[in-house]
Parts: sequence; structure tokens; C-alpha cells
Amino acid sequence: MQKVIIDCDPEIDDVLALMLAVQTPNLDVVAITVVSGNVPADLGVQNVIKCLEFCDRLDIPIYKGANGPLKRAYVSAQDTHGQDGLGESHIKVTSNKQAERLDAATFLAQTFQTPQSIGVIALGPLTNIAQALIANQNIGQNLNRFVSMGGTYQAAGNCSPVAEYNYWCDPDAAQYVYAHLDHRIEMIGLDVTRQIVLSPDILTYCQYMNAQVGQFIGAITHFYFDFHWQQERILGCVINDPLAVAYFSDPTLCSGFSTYVDVATTGIALGQTLVDVNNFYQRDANARVLTQVNAPAFFEQFLTTVLHLEPAQVSS
Ligand code: BDR
Ligand code: CA
Repeated sequence: MQKVIIDCDPEIDDVLALMLAVQTPNLDVVAITVVSGNVPADLGVQNVIKCLEFCDRLDIPIYKGANGPLKRAYVSAQDTHGQDGLGESHIKVTSNKQAERLDAATFLAQTFQTPQSIGVIALGPLTNIAQALIANQNIGQNLNRFVSMGGTYQAAGNCSPVAEYNYWCDPDAAQYVYAHLDHRIEMIGLDVTRQIVLSPDILTYCQYMNAQVGQFIGAITHFYFDFHWQQERILGCVINDPLAVAYFSDPTLCSGFSTYVDVATTGIALGQTLVDVNNFYQRDANARVLTQVNAPAFFEQFLTTVLHLEPAQVSS
């Protein structure tokens, strides 16, 4: 079992990622830290609790983190994910679970004071991680993997022509983490996540195979389906974050290359990942940029896990 901390800004696809993570057999989710991103951190904590209640995993501790970016004004994405962050599904919290008293950055900084066989999957802006790193510069040396959903290499941005939301929301944090983590960041950007589309057919399959789970997924993605059709004429919805979890569990799902990555913090390219594929900066690689994904293998892993299906028997 690989221990992992998930840092997230839970709206629709973060919740799908958490559903996958807490039920993946080779992952042990030791804590969930929450950052302000797609939704404010207070609301994000409520959405984590809703997810953990649904998955019967209220044993996992939650730590609330930053209320906004390091230096910039905070811009949520509730226009994309609904005011409740879960597609206006307005699912009720029924337990009295709350976030721990310790804040997320302090928890992360303390956890990685000494070497740990724990990885981190970051599914939102990197504010909590940057704050923890400012407090404890040894974090990178003391964790065993760091996967970040964010950035883009050749795919278009989703917040500007060149920037992806998580890094655009807090570019200073992203820039700081890439510059100082001292650990190779596995960058699951839009090049790979845009290929993961939860289609109406897959949703129908979910509802047939496990009515309770299928209805939950349908309730939280309904609004997101509508958003994708209105904005891009996509049937279904792109689910970015579950791929970062699936890839952490099974690194053969994605392939790419290692190089130096920086993040633009000013100007019209704000939040853009500068992927130095031709080695202009002559800097050591600080990232592995994932550019190819086996989407059918992702869906096999995702659906088998969240729908509690027997793994498919494929004859060779
Ligand atoms: C990011 O924003 C949201 O769509 C997802 O949660 C993901 O983390 C992609 O830009
Ligand atoms: Ca997210």
C-alpha cells in the first residue's frame, strides 16, 4: 500500500478523484488537505465530508488550508461547478465530522520534517504546498512522490489561451513549488486530462452497474455536462483530477518526458507552464511532463474501483 496525502479544492472532479483514491486497493489515503481554488476552502471541506460520508471513509482526517492565493486576489470557479461546488446537487452533510484544528500547511510541514514513505497528489492550486515549503524547505527530500494536476504543454489553456486554472489561480505558488520543491514534480496537465471525458454512455453504464454510485455521479455531474455542452459542444464532461489519482496508483497509464518547467507570474501569459523541452534555460529537470494517456485503461481502473466491479477478465 502506498501512503498518500491528497491536497484538493473539492468540486465535481476532485470529488470523483477522492472517490477513486479512498477505494483504490494500493492507496492508503492518510489525510486530505483542502485549498481554496475551484471553491473556497470552507466549502471544499464540506464537499470532502459529503464524499467521505458517501464512501463510508469518515476515518480520514481533513485539514483546511489557504483562503486564497499567496499574492493575488482569489477567483473561484463556481460558475463552472455550481455555487455549492457540486453542480447544484445540494447534497446534505449528515455527520458531525469537521476539519482538524491544525491548518493544512502546518500539517504538511510537520509531516515532512523527516523522511516519509508518503506521496502527495495535488489537485488544486499549489498554495498549501508553497506555504508548507516556505515553512519547511526539506519537504521535497522527505516525500516519495509528488503528482500535480495542473499546467499544460501543447494543449490550449482553460483560463486563458495558455494557462490552466490551478496554476492560473495561484501562479506565485506554482512558480515557488516548481522552483523550490527539490523533487521531480509529475505534471498531469491538460494535454492528458482533456482526453478523459465522462460521456453520457459511461454515466449510463455507471447507473446500470451500481445504481447508488451512478446516481451520485449523475447528481454531481449534471450541471457540468450542461456547462461543457454550452461552452464547448462536448457531450459529457472532462474529468481532470481522477487521472492524477489513477496515474499515481498506476504510473503506466501516462507517459511523457522529464525537463525543466517554470511558471509565468506576470503579464498576459499569467499561470502558463514554460516547458523547456529544448533546454534553452540549461537547467536540471524539475518535472516529468505527462503527454500521453491510455484513456480506456484509465476508465477500466476508475469504473472498476468506484462501481465496485470485479476486474474484467480479458483473454490474451
Ligand atoms: C482543474 O480545475 C478543475 O476543473 C479541476 O478540479 C482541475 O483540478 C483543471 O483546470
Ligand atoms: Ca481540482
